[in-house]
Amino acid sequence: MTPPRRDDPTPGPTPAAHPGAESTERTISRKTLLRAAVAAGAALPLLSGTVALARDSAVQGRSLPATPACDDGDGPTHDQIEGPYFKPNSPLRTNLVTAGTTGTPLTVSGYVFGRTCVPLAGVLLDFWQADDAGNYDMAGYTLRGHQFTDAKGAFSLTTIVPGLYPGRTRHLHVKAQAPGQPVLTTQLYFPGEPRNTTDSLFDATLLMNVRGAGGGKEGTFDFVLNVVGTPGPGGPTDPPTDPPSGTWAAGRSYAAGDRVTYSGVAYRCVQAHTSMTGWEPPNVPALWRRE
Ligand SMILES: [Fe+2]
Repeated sequence: MTPPRRDDPTPGPTPAAHPGAESTERTISRKTLLRAAVAAGAALPLLSGTVALARDSAVQGRSLPATPACDDGDGPTHDQIEGPYFKPNSPLRTNLVTAGTTGTPLTVSGYVFGRTCVPLAGVLLDFWQADDAGNYDMAGYTLRGHQFTDAKGAFSLTTIVPGLYPGRTRHLHVKAQAPGQPVLTTQLYFPGEPRNTTDSLFDATLLMNVRGAGGGKEGTFDFVLNVVGTPGPGGPTDPPTDPPSGTWAAGRSYAAGDRVTYSGVAYRCVQAHTSMTGWEPPNVPALWRRE
């Protein structure tokens, strides 16, 4: 199976026509068209239902320059509304399946890239979703969790296929934040869902590539954050530069509510995490709130 390449020279023709498009002026790339076609259930025999991913030009066995040219014109991953069901302080975990979880198993994996296609390490990804019956847990943290991309910019989430609830097509919610950068709030969608054509929020550029896997499903999606394509201010393996003053330190487990000082300023932890260089409190408002 040969997946479509992101560097396919075919020019991306024309106009946005899918519901929920943020701008009809956007030039739709080949990848976007492919995703839209997959969503609509179109027959794509040469593609085998596969959607191009940013990583295709980065890791699939071809000789490429050190900074692969993965930009096919899509630009950064689109943002979407947070909706009413986000809760801060989700647990640090890549597996949202617990003893009582029912539903179709789902894994979602992928990479996070900057605009110049450099994989970004240490990117915070905070996922939340409905359960199999379409309900969000607002009392606890069922089907909520955050994680960080690894040194290769990769992430992997183990969960279930979210259930449907009135007014929406099937989707996952996620917030993504590279070190020291703004938070991207968005949603990921499933191909072939009937409601994709009626949900006004649906955005075909946010379709995952989903396939069956045993009794479950495997989804893939690559984020492109609108940040300069260099790993954040100090990736997780970079040595520290100036030792900070204060009580904050890299490599420690902090819980929500913990208080630290950093360069003479006090911060309160808002999400449990293990600290690392590049995630100093002033750089990561998703983790630390200045007091
Ligand atoms: Fe939702």
